[in-house]
Amino acid sequence: THVYQPYRTAYHFQPRKNWMNDPNGPLYYKGWYHFFYQYNRDAAVWGNITWGHAVSRDMVHWRTLHTALKGDKWYDMKGVWSGSATFLDNGVPVLLYTGWAINGTDQSSIRGQTQAMAVPEDPSDPLLREWDKSPHNPIALAPPGFNDSMFRDPTEAWKGYDGVWRMLVGAVKGTDQSIGTALLYKSTDFNKWNFTGEIQSVAGTGMWECPDIYPVHVKEKTGLRLSARGPHVKHVLKVSLDRNKHDYYSVGTYDEKTDLYTPDDTKLDTGLGLRYDYGKFYASKTFFDQNKNRRVLWGWANESSSVQDDIEKGWSSVQCLPRHIWLDEESSANLVQWPIEEVDKLRRNEMTEKNVEVGVGKVVPVKAAKGAQLDIVVDFALPEKSEGLEQNPNLLAEMGHLTCSDLVTKGSNAAGPHSFGPFGVHVLATGDLQERTSIFFHLIHDGKHQNWKTLFCGDQSQSSLQQDVDKTVYGSYVRVDDSDKVLSVRILVDHSIVESFAQGGRTVMTSRVYPELAVKDAAHVFLFNNGTEPVTVKSVSTWEMKSVNIKFYKP
Ligand code: FRU
Repeated sequence: THVYQPYRTAYHFQPRKNWMNDPNGPLYYKGWYHFFYQYNRDAAVWGNITWGHAVSRDMVHWRTLHTALKGDKWYDMKGVWSGSATFLDNGVPVLLYTGWAINGTDQSSIRGQTQAMAVPEDPSDPLLREWDKSPHNPIALAPPGFNDSMFRDPTEAWKGYDGVWRMLVGAVKGTDQSIGTALLYKSTDFNKWNFTGEIQSVAGTGMWECPDIYPVHVKEKTGLRLSARGPHVKHVLKVSLDRNKHDYYSVGTYDEKTDLYTPDDTKLDTGLGLRYDYGKFYASKTFFDQNKNRRVLWGWANESSSVQDDIEKGWSSVQCLPRHIWLDEESSANLVQWPIEEVDKLRRNEMTEKNVEVGVGKVVPVKAAKGAQLDIVVDFALPEKSEGLEQNPNLLAEMGHLTCSDLVTKGSNAAGPHSFGPFGVHVLATGDLQERTSIFFHLIHDGKHQNWKTLFCGDQSQSSLQQDVDKTVYGSYVRVDDSDKVLSVRILVDHSIVESFAQGGRTVMTSRVYPELAVKDAAHVFLFNNGTEPVTVKSVSTWEMKSVNIKFYKP
């Protein structure tokens, strides 16, 4: 039976059916990329969570395998929850995960979440099909005074300067359970782990899910292994806030001696700091890809439609494209993210237009681009400060509270005369613009380039004629340097997901949208300018993206 599925993606990772959430334990082994994911084999809603397993040569084309881990021990009977992979000294990867224990067994003092380990049954199998649970499980329990139903998602483990293994587990503390924290566990043999302290905690952030800690190179795009140390190394700590379902990170210093992490910018504490993605992106996980010496980020894009819709279409969630991430050398304060280069192999039929003028209030079709599988790169000319923009030193302070939703509801009137925009791109748009998903910029400045504040926004409000889908407006700021020649955005469209990378990946935003009319060949692309000054598009390049056939496991 062929049910028409307009929202299934063509080149993002999705299981054949049912519910998926967090990415788990990504790794590269013997020529294969492995990707595990939180998976309900029985329904399109969360429940009975197992580890699904898929393998790939290039992280673009996938083949799913049978379930890697399912709940069949007292300590994980109610679910095999998120975790990570670690390579042991002998080069064999092991999986650390959270087990959700059953109530009332002989171990009845343990009820909630435990940490457990699985090892490959046959390390010579490049596909790592069979996993054995360790006889030492559970390898870690919640420390006294901590809530054992808020104790989960072990990180990859790393070996310290002293040869002792370390891992983090997400948790929460405080009388009102509002202080988010990452608990540090240590082990000398990998089988028995002891709680030794907290690497960082931040008041008011609530439960920290899926912590991730990793080193970044201060100058190069090269990725680093977890144990990297030296003057060329800074660290990133990321946490997923259960409270608002966003992933926050900070750049800082991990002191190996004290096992404490300190963000460089204390105003941007982990858990309150920067976001990987200002749209739908959660429970992410990085890994060091030793095949290409880079760090790769995986993140989960939940649906924005109703549970009923998920049940009807028979599946829920996609994974965002894997992203290469590195420290922004210009600022040393933020990461840069870019779809892994392998994604470019899917591009075909490139069309480029140069120097397109988009007048005030105008909408210009990008005729070459059609369909719901596109890669689009647009470079807008940066306005000159002389272009009708007076100097006004107080402006940035005045405009500091302007948000993307203000711009959507009030247009350029929200910002007043000392601004430039909004201008941008409509994707998944009908010819009459009745349906459209809009990615746009808006600049405010006081006459000096370095004082520009540039909003980068995603407007889902007109994305679908359907009423019962989430149409929140997203956005944040993107840094524009004095030396930047253009304002650029890369937009990857894949039916119901739109991933947008501004200024080379300094700010990223993912949207989930469900157009009713703007599907397949009825989906168009437009450039638009709702600002008060004309805009020059220096170039707009579009590619159609090939579909990827995921080979699904058949028992
Ligand atoms: C994050 C999360 C994790 C947990 C898993 C359960 O989305 O809640 O904290 O391990 O999902 O599926």
